[in-house]
Amino acid sequence: MSRQPRRLALALAELESARARTLALTDCLDDDELMAQHSPLMSPLGWDLAHVGNQEELWLVREAGRRPALRPELDDLYDAFRHPRADRPALPLLSPAQARQYLGQVREQALDVLSASPFAGDPLHADGFVFGMVAQHEQQHGETMLATHQLRSGPPVLHAPEPPPAAVDVSRLPREVLVPGGPFTMGTSTDPWALDNERPAHTVDVPAFWLDTVPVTNAAYQEFIADGGYDDPRWWTPEGWEHRRTAELDAPQCWFRDGGSVWLRRRFGHVEEVPPDEPVLHVCWFEADAYARWAGRRLPTEAEWEKAARHDPATGESRRYPWGDAEPGPEHANLGQRHLRPAAVGSFPAGVSPLGIHQLLGDVWEWTASDFQPYPGFAVFPYKEYSEVFFGPSYKVLRGGSFAVAPVACRGTFRNWDYPIRRQIFAGFRTCRTAEGDR
Ligand code: AVJ
Ligand code: FE
Repeated sequence: MSRQPRRLALALAELESARARTLALTDCLDDDELMAQHSPLMSPLGWDLAHVGNQEELWLVREAGRRPALRPELDDLYDAFRHPRADRPALPLLSPAQARQYLGQVREQALDVLSASPFAGDPLHADGFVFGMVAQHEQQHGETMLATHQLRSGPPVLHAPEPPPAAVDVSRLPREVLVPGGPFTMGTSTDPWALDNERPAHTVDVPAFWLDTVPVTNAAYQEFIADGGYDDPRWWTPEGWEHRRTAELDAPQCWFRDGGSVWLRRRFGHVEEVPPDEPVLHVCWFEADAYARWAGRRLPTEAEWEKAARHDPATGESRRYPWGDAEPGPEHANLGQRHLRPAAVGSFPAGVSPLGIHQLLGDVWEWTASDFQPYPGFAVFPYKEYSEVFFGPSYKVLRGGSFAVAPVACRGTFRNWDYPIRRQIFAGFRTCRTAEGDR
């Protein structure tokens, strides 16, 4: 049993932690709420519940374990490409109790496959990739399920394990940081659990630019609103303006004003004043892009973002995380649904990048200017429906990971994507400008 025991223990821990998250997000609601559709954008939570089990059956039991199918008749129901989210409530889905039982049966076999895995040889087993992939998949649905909770109405059922760190004085931080021009290594060829779209490592020359030290805050975003940013087509792309008009956008999703001038927000069933010093949340790409133009700036490209997050000018190497290669701890970043909200900007001094940029990972996903495209040398692995079918101009890339993201699905190379109109995701942004003449 000398087959990479560390990877085995890690895979086991990550599968268990994903399952604990899934159950916590679903055990807190009754069956009617689990099978109801809280928004046409989202699946019933009961669909996500069985879907993570079905993916685990497909990849761990059948593919990695070469074992016979347990419930092949479920494949169609829980295939995300066969039924759009809005149609899922009408499907003959498993009840929550049946889904929980199915998850348990699959997990039992998956753990047998795990304990017999050589952790080497074929690329699914090498370094336990397929186990890491399945744990990341379940945790990604944990984030999706949390977004469903945010859209649900009714009294709160979720409770944060811990309050976020106390707000810190950021007045001494520079407003922006110069990221020097020159090549850096983007993507990875060596990170064992990196997904196909993060590969391979390649060199990108990024000209010098100035990046916001912290994400755009609610207070800064309120200035944009107060300045009539939503009413001035100058700041919006034509497509963005059209969307802002038809969708009648006038503030981030979940914000409202109760007669007075104070902005309030709904957060998992709680109503509270919008905290001025937190990163803005629940804005779409068009809003982020308009804000940046109003501020005389722009959204960073994906390469700019990754260079800021990973490039160490002292060594010329790219790091796994802004703070280095240590696994994310609570001192580094707001991850793992620990606080159920973004933390105030500047809250994680131990997580800064070598250049002194804060909160690149955690808190809020950050919209980038870039479309979701494959890196040069991209190869589908192990299935084209994870990334490849989404490449193209329809999707914008988000980077960094939110407070809802598990550490296993968060690193400097991790790529997320969504339509530019989407705001139910836990997304904010930061802005930048090209450095004229500085290097
Ligand atoms: C990477 C977050 C865009 O939720 O659509 C889940 C992740 N892929 N199941 C998504 C995913 C398959 C994916 N995102
Ligand atoms: Fe999925």
